[in-house]
Amino acid sequence: MARRGKWAGLVVGLALGLALGALLRRGGRAPAPCRPAPLDPLALLQLAPNETRDNSRRALVLVGVMTAAQYLDTRARAVHETWARDLPGRLAFFSSEGSRAPGLPLVALRGVDDSYPPQKKSFLMLLHMYEQYGDRFEWFMRADDDVYVRGDRLEAFLRGVDSRKPQFIGQAGRGTAAERDALALAPDENFCMGGPGVLLSRAALAAAAPHVRYCLQHLLTSHEDVELGRCVARFAGVACTWSYDMQTILHHNSSGAAAYTGRLKRREVHRAITLHPVKDHRYMYRLHSYFKNLRIQELREQSVQLHRDISSSLKALGVASDQAQGYTLPGGLPLFPAKIGQAGYLGDNEILGAPVELDRYKPADFGDVVLYDFVSKSIYSTTHQNPKRKIELPLKEALDDVIREVMEIINQPSRQRGRVIDFNELLYGYTRLDALHGADHVLDLLLQYRRYRGRKMTAAVRRHAYLQQSFTGMDIRELPLGDPPSPNGDSYLESTGAASRGDVDYEDFDESNKEQNGFLDLNNINKPLKEAWESGLMKLQNNLPKALTWGADKEYPIYDRRINFILPLAGRLDIFIRFMKNYEDVVLKTDEAVTLIVVLYLDGKNPIDYKRSENLIDYYNDNYSSDKKVKAVKMGSTTFSRGAALTEGIKLCEPEDLMFFVDVDMMFNFDTLRRIRINTIKYYQVYFPIVFSEYNPDVVNGEDYNKFKGDNVNTKTDLGRYDNIPTEGKTEREVTNLKYTKRIHDDFGYFRQYGFGILSIYKSDFESVGGFNLTIKGWGMEDVQLFETLIKSNLTVFRIADDSLVHIFHSVDCDKSLEASQYTMCLGTKASTYGSDKHMAYYMLNHPDVLWPPTEDKKGAS
Ligand SMILES: *[C@@H]1O[C@H](CO)[C@@H](O)[C@H](O)[C@H]1NC(C)=O
Ligand SMILES: *[C@@H]1O[C@H](CO)[C@@H](O)[C@H](O)[C@H]1NC(C)=O
Ligand SMILES: *[C@@H]1O[C@H](CO)[C@@H](O)[C@H](O)[C@H]1NC(C)=O
Ligand SMILES: *[C@@H]1O[C@H](CO)[C@@H](O)[C@H](O)[C@H]1NC(C)=O
Ligand SMILES: *[C@@H]1O[C@H](CO)[C@@H](O)[C@H](O)[C@H]1NC(C)=O
Repeated sequence: MARRGKWAGLVVGLALGLALGALLRRGGRAPAPCRPAPLDPLALLQLAPNETRDNSRRALVLVGVMTAAQYLDTRARAVHETWARDLPGRLAFFSSEGSRAPGLPLVALRGVDDSYPPQKKSFLMLLHMYEQYGDRFEWFMRADDDVYVRGDRLEAFLRGVDSRKPQFIGQAGRGTAAERDALALAPDENFCMGGPGVLLSRAALAAAAPHVRYCLQHLLTSHEDVELGRCVARFAGVACTWSYDMQTILHHNSSGAAAYTGRLKRREVHRAITLHPVKDHRYMYRLHSYFKNLRIQELREQSVQLHRDISSSLKALGVASDQAQGYTLPGGLPLFPAKIGQAGYLGDNEILGAPVELDRYKPADFGDVVLYDFVSKSIYSTTHQNPKRKIELPLKEALDDVIREVMEIINQPSRQRGRVIDFNELLYGYTRLDALHGADHVLDLLLQYRRYRGRKMTAAVRRHAYLQQSFTGMDIRELPLGDPPSPNGDSYLESTGAASRGDVDYEDFDESNKEQNGFLDLNNINKPLKEAWESGLMKLQNNLPKALTWGADKEYPIYDRRINFILPLAGRLDIFIRFMKNYEDVVLKTDEAVTLIVVLYLDGKNPIDYKRSENLIDYYNDNYSSDKKVKAVKMGSTTFSRGAALTEGIKLCEPEDLMFFVDVDMMFNFDTLRRIRINTIKYYQVYFPIVFSEYNPDVVNGEDYNKFKGDNVNTKTDLGRYDNIPTEGKTEREVTNLKYTKRIHDDFGYFRQYGFGILSIYKSDFESVGGFNLTIKGWGMEDVQLFETLIKSNLTVFRIADDSLVHIFHSVDCDKSLEASQYTMCLGTKASTYGSDKHMAYYMLNHPDVLWPPTEDKKGAS
């Protein structure tokens, strides 16, 4: 037990981002500078004359990238737009005489062509670097145009090496015994392999560069890197570093064009400073964004650490945590100068600075306790409908990440201690998510301990790790409002003339939209979460006062974009009346741009409903102006199929129309309309809201389902209606919105995660994926197939729980004549709509005979 406890205290804070997706903006296109390459060597590197090795971080290393005329527009540009920007130094490209690449820091070497092997290019590049910049930089790097360099890692590495001495750093090669003759290497000679990059200290460059012309005239082989090694060895007196580490940090992958095109979450990728080769320049951008993400994670973690330091210091000073935000340091200096909502606001210290411990969140009562799931080969949870199941992919990925990070931490002192610890397997673990702070994991890890110094040994060890992944502050991703350009047509910017104005218009961003209110009920969540949420919204309001549109002349064209509701209907007059009342209040009585298309079928069981539904539509059409007309498609006694019904309705729409497929059971409000308009993006995105489905009110309110027989508790549950809400001070629109809003609660209903019938899409996009599969009859399945088709298409499927869309309860009648899979689905829906697990548990405990029917014939049977 004592040994086991050694790492039991290993509590590691890992940072996780909590993102709030919202709104606005698209980066403007930076105009490419197209003046001819300046001749001034410092201007070429954009280095100021007064920037020197002693005063500028930009003068640590000069990277010379060897490229060729044919790669200037691809690889060289990719390098320039990615890692070149993060270097602790400057970078120049070296190509053949006459090469031109506007906007790139390019040196076209006189008398050099693009022939291979590039000995002359490489040697003259070093000479040029020496002659022009020999005193300006501490380090000089020779790189190819297919290498990726991580600037931050390179800096940390170089700062630890003495640059006053001649240093020749790279991945040392010596060739096999057979090759050694061909390479003309003595047994003790080596060279730095060119691919993953070679570094020379100022002293090494100064010693070797003046002699490159001599070396060029005395080449023994055609291998550029071998010859460079020979030249440096001869004139600077240093060989390539003999270090096993170099293979790790200057990483070469021998898979050729396939290298780094697959999964990047690998140890060798994470540990590398340079990665070689990236043959297809497009993967350079992918690597770059991957490393940027890692960097963001690192910075987030640092910020959380600092918040924790502040928090614990304040605690030591006896300052209450809720006073941290306004705390003033001696001398009148505010601890957090920027307040919530201001630029530079650092987040809520009370949340972000919460110490790492397993009870950061203190539940107020038993019902609030955050439960752990148990993880081994499967995952077991008490709160899930399916208590034992396969570990879901996202959790698997998360655990992999967490374990990889833990192993990195455990192995940090490995070198000093002469041991390596490798991860073997996860024996079991517990994991839970605290919505306010982050995820907790308790893991039992089987590890492999290997000591390679002193008495060598290998042993399997088992360790517990207690880990916490903290949420950081909220971030906001800005999305453009309005129509994006067509992916195949001309650029939208050009077609609207915005391009000719040189930029895209900025417009004032006014988020004071009243409709925001129904979005999240802030009164029903606890204080810290509420503050975190509000700080996110404040950021939205104050830090991003400008919204970028796509250049359309109207302010927010999408806010009043017309939506075409398509409603298939067979029978069900009562429900249709309710739906029309909802439609009247939200659409007909207001100026909302919505058109309703009802596709009417004759229901054999309720034939009179057909005529009455027609009359109802006529009534509304007589009563409201002609632009509010409800359209009816009369299908008579044709066999009903939802896919076919929607298809008939779609025929009334134009290709550029926005369509919303709805069911008569749905209740909607103004929020629904706004979300449809924002979340459906022509050519790019379809909106699949997850609707809230009400349980049977008899169950929700039924005594049997809410308490034990004989218990004397009041079970009167409010179905969550806002009928009696005070309306004074509210606009008519707000009152209407509340009228069609339900309170979201586990006891009242559930989000129908597996329902795919309700969606919004542009007609042109719907047609581009081929529409509905019309061979399917009856309800269900056609929507699942459409969903699957859309997932596979180029369109983004945006799916999210939408609390404004509520499926009002009705009892389901599953038709035995349906196809087997449809019938099963119908039964499933019927069962899950009945009530919550809690209700069912009460019912069963009150009626044990449901599970254990009294079996009188039992004796006879046994
Ligand atoms: C170099 O000079 C510019 C003004 O010419 C000045 O702004 C800058 O701070 C100086 N940089 C250093 C490192 O001295
Ligand atoms: C090299 O890359 C390939 C493909 O991405 C990968 O399968 C392989 O494991 C990598 N090898 C090394 C040593 O990183
Ligand atoms: C709609 O018709 C009813 C009765 O037919 C009438 O009372 C009501 O005022 C009408 N409303 C409108 C907006 O015309
Ligand atoms: C349409 O659905 C039927 C029945 O499920 C299926 O056999 C057929 O392959 C589907 N057609 C397409 C184009 O998906
Ligand atoms: C998606 O877009 C790419 C490139 O525009 C195209 O090559 C591909 O065929 C498209 N795929 C589908 C399913 O439309």
